Amino acid sequence: MVADRREPELPSLTIRSHHPESTKSIILAAPIINGGMGVGLTGPALAAEITNAGGGGVLTGVALGYPFQRILDKYLDEKPFEANRLALIEWIHDAKTRCDGGFVGVNLMVAVSDFKDLAYTSAKNGVDLIIAGAGLPMQLPEIVSKFPDTMIAPIISSVKAARVMVKKWLSKGRAPDAIVYESIHHSGGHQGGDVEDILGGLHQPEEVIGATRKLLDDQGLTDVPVIAAGGVWDRDDIVRYLSWGAQGVQMASRFLLTMEAGLEFGGAHLFKRLILENDSPTILERSPAGLPGRALSTPFSRRFAFQNNGSIVNEPHDCPSACLATCAKKDAIYCILAHLVEALRDNYEEGLFFAGSNLGVPGLARQVMPVSALMDLLKHGEPAPASVA
Ligand SMILES: Cc1cc2nc3c(=O)[nH]c(=O)nc-3n(C[C@H](O)[C@H](O)[C@H](O)COP(=O)(O)O)c2cc1C
Repeated sequence: MVADRREPELPSLTIRSHHPESTKSIILAAPIINGGMGVGLTGPALAAEITNAGGGGVLTGVALGYPFQRILDKYLDEKPFEANRLALIEWIHDAKTRCDGGFVGVNLMVAVSDFKDLAYTSAKNGVDLIIAGAGLPMQLPEIVSKFPDTMIAPIISSVKAARVMVKKWLSKGRAPDAIVYESIHHSGGHQGGDVEDILGGLHQPEEVIGATRKLLDDQGLTDVPVIAAGGVWDRDDIVRYLSWGAQGVQMASRFLLTMEAGLEFGGAHLFKRLILENDSPTILERSPAGLPGRALSTPFSRRFAFQNNGSIVNEPHDCPSACLATCAKKDAIYCILAHLVEALRDNYEEGLFFAGSNLGVPGLARQVMPVSALMDLLKHGEPAPASVA
């Protein structure tokens, strides 16, 4: 029996290409996409199910070759960047097949050494949207210019960054097809601001969402959606972010609590158990990418937490993939790729478990469920309580 629903339909989300040679437009029935979660947590199973449920599924395209080699024993003979490329192609085609050619996005970090190659590869293999963050993707319009139907969106965390991106891309004859705003106070993983900005309370969601909407409207870009991320857990959060001027939301941490998260690499069981049991606030740790990272408080993240002023000891390590252009490689404080993969491999002591601030909030609904069930809750709210006869 279909449960009674309390809530009206959420509005749909339209994203259209602003490439001069494209008329492509995609309507997502639900204004919900998932945030890419590197390394390896948002794969084809998760992305396709989100699209099948009316939202927009986004693959992570970051440094896939290393976990493919270490966990799946695939592409073992390939050099790291070629392994990344082959793994990404495999995931794009798998996701497209699972959702019958429906919407598939890819999340990329500008800071990875092979950003340009991965962006080109994504577009060539038919992804609908590239979302690029961890640095401002100034060159993205040129990189994918041969693929008019691949839409592109920068991630920004401040109005200033939004202004810079819009101006830069318009000067190249291409408006962004969407702008993704990630709150530095809530998002999991790398933050687009420094610790002082976070502690100082700068760039709050209500302010940045509203000002970015106005910035776009003032340029005549009323059809470019603002997709807001960071701290969205349930339908009420979605409605609140939409009321501040967003046209859609990007959610990550809540999607970790689905059966499909990390499925390709074994299911990320420890990650999910830690989230279910976590009762401590998330912490900010130092990433070799040069940005603060928000993570669960675990033995590894505590070693590199910002609270440990003056007592950070570098961890000697190999540099298996030279993955980050902004990293000091063997001289970096630690190898982030290796520790993110340890999280995927269920290693409590050595894993780095990135997570949004909601995972430190007591009392939120936490349950592992299929993506389809979670999307149903997000779209329609909780089923009405059964009436007592
Ligand atoms: C485990 C994890 C990994 C993440 N990895 C990436 C990433 O590779 N690239 C990126 O742009 N954002 C990354 N993020 C940020 C999310 O895509 C998202 O924007 C943010 O977490 C939204 O906040 P929420 O987790 O409160 O929903 C990551 C977040 C988490 C929790």
